[in-house]
Amino acid sequence: MRSRWFLITWLLAAPVILVAGVQGEEPLTPITSVGIHSLGPVPLDNLAPPAVPPGNPQTSDKILLGKKLYFDTRLSRDNTISCATCHDPAKGWSDAGPTSKGIKDQLGGRRSPPVSNAAYNLLQFWDGRAPSLEEQAKGPIENPVEMGNTHTEMLRTVSDIPGYVDEMEKVFGTRKVTIDHVAQAIAAFERTVVTTDSPFDRFIRGDSEALTPMEKRGLEIFNGKGHCSSCHWGGYFSDGRFHNLGIEPLDPSKPDSGRHNVTKHPKDVGAFKTPTVRDAALRAPYMHTGREGTLEDVVRLYDRGGGLDDANLDALMVPLGLSKDEIQALVAFMTRAMTSTNPEVANVKPVPQSELPK
Ligand code: HEC
Ligand code: HEC
Repeated sequence: MRSRWFLITWLLAAPVILVAGVQGEEPLTPITSVGIHSLGPVPLDNLAPPAVPPGNPQTSDKILLGKKLYFDTRLSRDNTISCATCHDPAKGWSDAGPTSKGIKDQLGGRRSPPVSNAAYNLLQFWDGRAPSLEEQAKGPIENPVEMGNTHTEMLRTVSDIPGYVDEMEKVFGTRKVTIDHVAQAIAAFERTVVTTDSPFDRFIRGDSEALTPMEKRGLEIFNGKGHCSSCHWGGYFSDGRFHNLGIEPLDPSKPDSGRHNVTKHPKDVGAFKTPTVRDAALRAPYMHTGREGTLEDVVRLYDRGGGLDDANLDALMVPLGLSKDEIQALVAFMTRAMTSTNPEVANVKPVPQSELPK
């Protein structure tokens, strides 16, 4: 699996294989969403504005309503948890981790991924079980270890808040509060949390001084020796696909089968969605387990050729032979150069209790 011969074969074959959209002999993961098969590796780039589904156009009133719902703990069963509890703007739109603490201090089994730029995910969740932000937003409300509520109970609560009913009417033209409208408003807000500006983005737009020499070296390794951009590609720095990196399960007696939960495809056991690298420095720790404490730990994991030598280990998980300087350069690139400076992402403050609908 990890022999040098295999690596050479893979590297020679990789461009052809990736462009053709098949991994070796195996068919690609079956997917339910649009577009994945047509994507080949695309160069690292700026982010274009996110796609907006025709059924949920962006309006300023809807975005503001979604923002209030996002920060409102009244959506949870005991008024203690909001979306922002686990996707906190001040923590890179994630949380302190390693995994999230929901209602009654219960710990979940996976790391909270960032809501920033989640609008670019082809599929939502580490295992891709939700096809859109709208569908995703319905999950945590009734997840027993997250917000611990039921949709019926949450809708009753929101319907009893006249301020929300008025806003719902203004946005959706009806005073009847529905789960679809709650989810649509939250998704519209999430589509505004996108990063268009970072030193890397300025560099791509032509400012050759935007990166330090060390960060430029890091970018080169990201695209070259580290072959990071084989999976973290395009404006979003993600292929939207699922890979097994051999990440050790948090509880070895209960391994997380990842994408396999959704597809039941044997090749998907232990495969998780490629996260973006944008703003990664703001949201340690890393991976679906939250076990890797720093970006340097992450790079060292790749340098070793991934974690456990799992039968399903991705073919790209081979030792990289990075020098200490190359590791530092990669970390430097992912730290300052990939950290966004958009005020609407970096400086979002929770909506104060006093400004939530009454
Ligand atoms: C108790 C913590 C917690 C709460 C509360 C919570 N989330 Fe999450 N969120 C998570 C975790 C953990 C995951 C990953 C779960 C998985 O993949 O199985 C996740 C996944 C997501 C994703 C998918 C991102 C990606 O890259 O796949 C989005 C978007 C998201 N949450 C938005 C929300 C919204 C909107 C709310 C409020 C309605 C919310 N979350 C409430 C912890 C939480
Ligand atoms: C085979 C595809 C693949 C390659 C190659 C790859 N990655 Fe990843 N990357 C992933 C996947 C999948 C995850 C999540 C794995 C998990 O949690 O099980 C990930 C996670 C990460 C994370 C953590 C992000 C977060 O929010 O938790 C960082 C940082 C990262 N990769 C950087 C890199 C760098 C740097 C390289 C090159 C040295 C690289 N990746 C190569 C697929 C890949």
